[in-house]
Amino acid sequence: MVSLSTKLPPAPSKRPDKEPLDKIALGMKEATSLAIFNRWMAKAAPMVKGGIRAVPGEGPIGAAIALVGEQPGDQEDIVGKPFVGPAGHLLDKALAEAGIDRKRVYVTNAVKHFKFEPRGKRRIHSKPTAGEVTHYRWWLEKELDLVKPTLVVAMGATAALALAGHPVAVERNRGPMEFRDHAGYLTIHPSFLLRMPPKDRAAAFAKFVADLRQIRKRAVAADAPEAA
Ligand code: URA
Repeated sequence: MVSLSTKLPPAPSKRPDKEPLDKIALGMKEATSLAIFNRWMAKAAPMVKGGIRAVPGEGPIGAAIALVGEQPGDQEDIVGKPFVGPAGHLLDKALAEAGIDRKRVYVTNAVKHFKFEPRGKRRIHSKPTAGEVTHYRWWLEKELDLVKPTLVVAMGATAALALAGHPVAVERNRGPMEFRDHAGYLTIHPSFLLRMPPKDRAAAFAKFVADLRQIRKRAVAADAPEAA
């Protein structure tokens, strides 16, 4: 018979086939390279039920510019890369017009898993809550510590919330900004352009390109001040 003072063994894990989450978090926190960080992150479960995978950032370490979006969408979740769907195509077009080579930019998201509402066979994007953004916040900070970009760009309100640590009104604060340890810039999210009435799109796209030109100038000036 087991006496009341006998220590019972711990209950078996509910996820016996997975590594415990705290081990994963520790692995991510202590990662000394982006590759190690991404390997651990790939094992992390979504905060809310949803996407297939954690979508890592993409681009070179030490990139002059890091672009931060909201969360991976349907296509990004399938492919496992950021900004490869409709918003990504628009971003590519805007970057090209601003004279920025996407391959030289680091592109990532504030939230690493796709959250959606199923509608028939479609998965409809669902905006992350402030709590979800907070949950992923240190992931983004750690990632940026490893990438060490010169300039960090928040595209939209979710990225701004993650980088600033408090809500920021995008249109009112659009332009250069400091994000904690990072020189930054706040602009719109490209999907904002997809949602607006077609008649307003060209002017808003041109303004987004103008922001990207400013971002390029600032990143070049900070990287090589004598050349600016
Ligand atoms: N929207 C985002 O914020 N990120 C992506 O990767 C795709 C769409």
